[in-house]
Amino acid sequence: MCGIVGAMAQRNVVPILLEGLQRLEYRGYDSAGLVVVNDKMLERVRSTGRVKELASRSADTQGQLGIAHTRWATHGAPSIKNAHPHQSRDMIAVVHNGIIENYEELRARLKSEGYEFTSETDTEVIAHLIHSHYMHGNSLLVSVQTALKELEGAYALGVIAADNPNQLICARRGSPLLLGVGIGENFVASDVSALLPVTNRVIYLEEGDVVEVERESYRIFDAHGKPVDRAVQVSEISNESVQLGNYRHYMQKEIHEQPSAISDTLESVCNSTSISPGIFGADAAATFSEVNSILILACGTSYHAGMVARYWLEEIAGIQCTVEIASEYRYRTSVPNLNALVVVLSQSGETADTMAALNHAKDMGQGNTLAICNVPESALIRASKLRFLTRAGPEIGVASTKAFTTQLVALFLLTLVLAKQRGRLVQETEFVHALRHLPSAVQKVLDMEPQIATLAERFASKHHALFLGRGMHYPIALEGALKLKEISYIHAEAYPAGELKHGPLALVDKDMPVISVAPNDTLLEKLKSNLQEVRARGGELYVFADADTLISESDGVNVIQMPEHAGYLSPVLHTIPLQLLAYYVALQKGTDVDKPRNLAKSVTVE
Ligand code: M6R
Repeated sequence: MCGIVGAMAQRNVVPILLEGLQRLEYRGYDSAGLVVVNDKMLERVRSTGRVKELASRSADTQGQLGIAHTRWATHGAPSIKNAHPHQSRDMIAVVHNGIIENYEELRARLKSEGYEFTSETDTEVIAHLIHSHYMHGNSLLVSVQTALKELEGAYALGVIAADNPNQLICARRGSPLLLGVGIGENFVASDVSALLPVTNRVIYLEEGDVVEVERESYRIFDAHGKPVDRAVQVSEISNESVQLGNYRHYMQKEIHEQPSAISDTLESVCNSTSISPGIFGADAAATFSEVNSILILACGTSYHAGMVARYWLEEIAGIQCTVEIASEYRYRTSVPNLNALVVVLSQSGETADTMAALNHAKDMGQGNTLAICNVPESALIRASKLRFLTRAGPEIGVASTKAFTTQLVALFLLTLVLAKQRGRLVQETEFVHALRHLPSAVQKVLDMEPQIATLAERFASKHHALFLGRGMHYPIALEGALKLKEISYIHAEAYPAGELKHGPLALVDKDMPVISVAPNDTLLEKLKSNLQEVRARGGELYVFADADTLISESDGVNVIQMPEHAGYLSPVLHTIPLQLLAYYVALQKGTDVDKPRNLAKSVTVE
């Protein structure tokens, strides 16, 4: 979603701001803008196009202090007037991520005080509020701190004043923001990838922090206004890891990174033949011995990973598991189980609904919490008692790929640890061996890419598609359908194959391609009968079948042979061709693969 970059240097910061915005493009946006202080004046440039257009519009803009923003519209349509930065009386400029919930009330008050509003955004109230305090003779820092006390909702903020070319104030509550520490120059950004060309030394700001940034120094104040020290960390993310390299899109690159992402995720935890609870944190063994059920909370693709885990946890570890969509759970009156382990799954660790669901669970007394996340120091990681970091590396494409398969690996490890603790893990060595073999098994599936690229040509003219799976592969069908709709804009639905005859079979005709995941498992014969039901109605079948399933090609039945069957880990392998299929169908359709319309990478608002 929205992205923030700010810079203060002894050189022109406009190229730094633009490069930073370009690197945040993956988060999703529909307008962009920047403002610099130049000769005690604010110089603002905004655009409803891509960052490239903003760059050409700001070719003549220069300044040593500036803030910039990519906006994903919430309050008010994508337009120049709603694009950030927002200003108050040519004195204060603000960029903001998040949502101010009491903005209507503040807007009415500020209007009565004579402020004129030029946008429909919630952000503009922040600019005017800060201005009103600044005009009373307060410093910029105090003006921001005072204004923040009046705001309800979530924010990450960058604020500058025309008459103060030496300071940038930033603050965060509920939305991510970090400080980039340079030599004789300092920066702020929504995520570290924006700053990698200028520094890899960062400070992850905590909830309620306000920072006074100057060129050579910075002062951080906590939520109570007390000066605090926060550790400078050297980011492990390299500049190269966020470059596209020889790939056409980030999504393609990230699909191909899955073998290394999986082995990196396993590396630190699975070097021996056994797995210990310690991989989830020092308190994990004690916590796991207290829990009698699992509650998984997540959104989108992460939710699908949770759905797969439910099959593993109940079957292998023998522990009851429920999986809920975070945005539903947070508003549902549920009965808390104080002995449940609440597992939150998130690539970004900043998803507002997942964060709120975690807080809701904690408020109800469910204190045993575990975050499985791909971003160190994210809000979700910090708010959970236990944590597991997937090591997928930065995921730039909006469609989640390697984050999903590494989440599955993490959840499988959790299953093994819980199974062991409950005395149910008789095949530990075999499972560890299967996990270690996974990267090469995934690589073999990736080698099917040319075949899937050809197959994709047959989908480009379709308007709908149906995905089928059974058991732990039903969530994989859901994930395949989500990938296809997300990036190719083809309407796709997924069903457990046994459910077909209860309704969706009515949709099947020659124009409805039906894609089925067909692992060689105990449900295979049942699945085959379901596929017959489709064929009998003239449906065109595309079956991703494991070896030895004995599903053969015939008229209307296209079989794509998978290299091997991976037992319990089969969902990981079956995910790969569906990711590739979605990718190549999107290529055929010419959509913006990495930045699909209307979507954002980090969904930091409700
Ligand atoms: O960062 P998260 O894993 O919490 O994100 C959750 C969803 O927004 C995300 O998985 C979304 O569904 C992806 N775009 C799917 O490809």
